[in-house]
Order: sequence, then structure tokens, then C-alpha cells
Amino acid sequence: YWIGSEVLQNYGCRMASGLWITFELVVISVALGFLLALGLAVARLYGPRWAKLAIQGYTTFFRGTPLLCQLFLVYYGFGQFRGFWQDIGLWWFFREPFYCALFTFTINTAAYQAEILRGAIQSIPRGQFEGASSLGLHRWATLRLVVMPQAMILALRPLGNELIVMIKSSAITSLVTLFDLMGATRLAFARSFDLSIYLYAALIYLVLVEIIRRVWDRLELRLSRHMAL
Ligand code: ARG
Repeated sequence: YWIGSEVLQNYGCRMASGLWITFELVVISVALGFLLALGLAVARLYGPRWAKLAIQGYTTFFRGTPLLCQLFLVYYGFGQFRGFWQDIGLWWFFREPFYCALFTFTINTAAYQAEILRGAIQSIPRGQFEGASSLGLHRWATLRLVVMPQAMILALRPLGNELIVMIKSSAITSLVTLFDLMGATRLAFARSFDLSIYLYAALIYLVLVEIIRRVWDRLELRLSRHMAL
């Protein structure tokens, strides 16, 4: 008899669906957050003063307050304005814990990724900009063709760390009734009082994180092979 095998038999299916929800939530929010962050980082570096200030405020708020607090503000706070969301046809979105979590995670990770990208762009040596402009490239072309490809390689590792942080952070969505991996695990524990279920959950998160870490190591090795930075 293997410890916990019974609880795993009873709740394994729910844990698997929970894992899938965790996966969807994190992959979609980190990908959308990346696109948002690209715009934020470029606008903060090269945009007008008002845009810089607005983005600074945005990143300060989302990096300076707990993700759980932000999630509650969206899930319970936006829910207060049900009439408004219904009027503009968005109630289906903010009534769902999954979409609330997706929204919160996207704008949260965008703030962190924007700072990662800004840092990466800023660490590309000035000479790269000067060289490109002496070749006749305009500012936008320089950024897109010369600076960004190099900056992305520098940003790769912190972006991988961000993905890992978001996977682990996703466990808090179980607190807004989402049955992600942690939500399913909490349900299983509440019904069985078999503590080993949390060990299985920890193991699943660990495997997920370890896979990403290894994939990222290989990716970085491959992409930085031709870089002299
Ligand atoms: N657990 C931390 C918090 O509650 C981090 C959450 C988000 N971190 C991140 N890199 N996106 O604030």
C-alpha cells in the first residue's frame, strides 16, 4: 500500500483538470503580458513625458502591491459594478473567476516584464544605436532590427524566471474559487484530510518549474551562441 494512492485515485482526475487550468491561465497571461510589456517598455523609454509618467505609475502600483490584493480588487471590486459590465456587454468576463484571474495576472506580469524589457534595452551599448544610425537606419528600424533582437536575448533569463514566478503565484487563484491545480488540491484535502495530496501538488508544480528551467537553459545557450555581449 502506497501512501496517498487512494486520495490520488479519487481526486487525480480533478487534479489533472486543475493542472490544465493552471497551465492555460499562466501561458495565456504571460504571453499577453509580454505583448503589453513590449509596448509599455518602448513607450516608457521613447514616448512622450505623460506616457512615461503613466507607465511609471502603472508599474509602481502592480509591482508594489500583493498580487492577491490585486486579484481580490478585480474579482470582488469589479463585481460591484455588475450593472455597468452588463450594459457594455462584459459581465460574462468579470463574473468568471478564470477571466478575472487571467486579467489580473496579465496586467501584473506586464508590469514586471515591462521593467525586464526596459532594463534589457537600456543595457544595449550606445554604439549599437550609433552604428545603426550611421548605416542610415531610422530610430524605429534601429530599435526593431538591431536593438530588440539583442535585448531579447538579455531579457530571456529574467523572462523565464517571471514565467516560473507566475506558475507558482497561480496557486492563489484558488482563493477566488478557481479550481486550478491548487484549488483541486484544496478540495481533495478538505474531503479526505489526507495531507499527502499537498505533497503530490508540490511535486507537480516542481516538475513543471524544472521543465521550464531546463528548456530555458537550452534556449539561452542556443540564442546567445552568436552574441558577443
Ligand atoms: N508573490 C508575489 C506577490 O504576491 C509576486 C507576485 C507577482 N510577481 C511577478 N513577478 N509577477 O506580490
